[in-house]
Amino acid sequence: MKTLVTGGAGYIGSHAAIELVAAGHDVVVLDNLSNGTRAAVEAIGRLAGRDVPFVEGDIRDSACLDRTFADHCFDAVLHFAALKAVGESVAEPLRYYQNNVAGTACLLERMAAHGVKTMVFSSSAAVYGDPATTPINENCPPDPKSPYARTKLIVESLLRDTHAADADWRISILRYFNAVGAHPSGEIGEDPAGVPQNLLPFVAQVAAGRRERLNVFGNDYPTPDGTGIRDYLHVVDLARGHVNALDYLATRTGVAVHNLGTGRGHTVFEVVRAFEAASAREVPYRIAPRRPGDVVVSCADPARAGDELGWTAEYDLRRICEDLWQWQSTHPHGFRGIKA
Ligand code: NAD
Ligand code: WQD
Repeated sequence: MKTLVTGGAGYIGSHAAIELVAAGHDVVVLDNLSNGTRAAVEAIGRLAGRDVPFVEGDIRDSACLDRTFADHCFDAVLHFAALKAVGESVAEPLRYYQNNVAGTACLLERMAAHGVKTMVFSSSAAVYGDPATTPINENCPPDPKSPYARTKLIVESLLRDTHAADADWRISILRYFNAVGAHPSGEIGEDPAGVPQNLLPFVAQVAAGRRERLNVFGNDYPTPDGTGIRDYLHVVDLARGHVNALDYLATRTGVAVHNLGTGRGHTVFEVVRAFEAASAREVPYRIAPRRPGDVVVSCADPARAGDELGWTAEYDLRRICEDLWQWQSTHPHGFRGIKA
């Protein structure tokens, strides 16, 4: 199979590209480098053992997409390209709708024009909002709380409507829980620009001495140690899920929705302790006010992905921290220091 990976120069897409090549796919990466790097694409080539063609381009650029689809005979598209910062989406909603929603509409239109009707879409557990019960299964009614999360839910509707109008489409919607960790090689990983907004990258930078201490956002939640609980999923497990999703689509048309998570939750303090053990460094912290918009617990029920995709997460929190530390300690400034 030949697969186009949009957003493949970014964090999850680069890991997925490696797993795809390992599974025998030919891969082409398309990315506008708004948050991805050429260095990541080069690392994919090294780790995959073969060059992966790269198109610097935007999913909103029809002419660029037409050239790319004319140059390659794709069987499927893995669609990672999106803006993903929740706070930024509140401040700049139109940019998020433009990029994530209009961009996906443009991509789907050009795919249809070139007869490519198989897509795996990166959705998010953020579409569930703050559900009444946990763990969360796919029947939980969506209630997105930010413009970012709403762009994901709107794209899900866009995909359903696309299939309703043309039953040949094969669509997999994957709702990721918290993607974390790095490739075991330590050669690729998450490379946040500026101050990390998410827990694991922040903790890693504290352990590395780049930041003084972690702010723990609230220690008075109704959880065993008072801090928030999340379902942290190793990015390589997540990447493997995309190979399973493509295999699943090979035998059926329609629109499928699957949660990708471990089904296990960890508190902020559990993460801090696990990272201290993995890095043999101290992670100083202080208790800060709750972060607006945070939910108490977010944990996946991944049973459907197990039953239908044959996918389960293999790596635990210890391994997540070890692999993230390998990346952080060998690339203290991420790819940025070596950006072309
Ligand atoms: P990322 O920012 O590292 O990767 C996204 C890539 O898409 C970047 O390389 C960026 O340059 C590219 N891109 C953005 N807009 C583009 C456009 N218009 N045209 C071409 N390329 C464009 O983010 P990530 O963490 O790898 O996330 C990948 C996908 O997974 C996103 O759709 C995100 O919303 C989704 N997701 C991520 C998480 C998470 O925990 N990181 C959780 C749920 C869902
Ligand atoms: C985890 C826990 C924080 C930072 C976000 C997006 C979501 C998804 C994944 C894309 C919470 C606490 C955090 C810090 C802290 N992305 N925390 N100090 O909020 O579950 O999910 O990323 O779809 O849409 O919202 O992840 O890593 O930011 O927070 O105490 O400096 O760590 O309060 O309990 P979150 P996170």
